[in-house]
Amino acid sequence: MPLFQAKNIRAGYGDVVIIDDVSINVANDHLVVIVGPNGSGKSTLLKSLIGLVHRFSGTVFYGEHDLTKTAPWQATSLGIGYVPQVDNVFAKLTVHENLEMGAYSRRDKEGIQADLAKTYERFPELAARKKALAETLSGGEKQMLAIARAMMPEPKILLLDEPLAFLSPKSAGKVLNKLLQIQKDGTAILMVEQNAVKALQNASYGYVLNEGRCVMEGTGAELLANKSLREKFLGLGNI
Ligand SMILES: Nc1ncnc2c1ncn2[C@@H]1O[C@H](COP(=O)(O)OP(=O)(O)OP(=O)(O)O)[C@@H](O)[C@H]1O
Ligand SMILES: [Mg+2]
Repeated sequence: MPLFQAKNIRAGYGDVVIIDDVSINVANDHLVVIVGPNGSGKSTLLKSLIGLVHRFSGTVFYGEHDLTKTAPWQATSLGIGYVPQVDNVFAKLTVHENLEMGAYSRRDKEGIQADLAKTYERFPELAARKKALAETLSGGEKQMLAIARAMMPEPKILLLDEPLAFLSPKSAGKVLNKLLQIQKDGTAILMVEQNAVKALQNASYGYVLNEGRCVMEGTGAELLANKSLREKFLGLGNI
């Protein structure tokens, strides 16, 4: 059984269906990518998986846990990290305070200190900016902080909404390398990404969303080699 399994999800806002009959699997240690054009429903899908957007129907299982029966705030304590697309750091708090917020629900002070130390080891660029206000960080550093905070409770799966968007190629490369290291260390990753080529090159598996439906799925390599996907969704020519 996959670590994370969503089946036939229908979700949206009010009475409006945005996501229609989408199924997603994420196996242990995998990096799974959801790509698709602007407005295709990527963020809505990701949010619906943990109940931040209303699901009309479908099932979501995280291991044995039926996520249709748990509140969104319980996802963190179950081992699911979520990094939203926007406003994913507390601008007026320092880097260190942001990381402490990642452990706000915990009482084990020693464990928190150990996790902070581990986080700074994993993100030396944040250790150098501990006392800086998050709003003063560069785009890439902000993404790293958001990811680092989500990693504080040591999740088994990390859900990320466009972690590479609006970054320079160099910063995007750095953030992606961090994510690949996190994956290697044993956390599965489900990420939405417009930077599709970069993401698919590293993906175990990918899904293509268009107008709220999954129009294609396959390994990263299969999707990148697909002619119609390359032309219609990736803006690439033939290979
Ligand atoms: N809070 C909301 N209320 C009503 N409709 C919404 C809301 N958020 C998004 N939508 C609509 O849902 C559709 C999908 O939006 P969504 O943000 O999920 O797309 P996306 O693929 O993440 O786009 P982008 O690539 O721009 O981030 C759009 O038509 C959008 O207008
Ligand atoms: Mg989005």
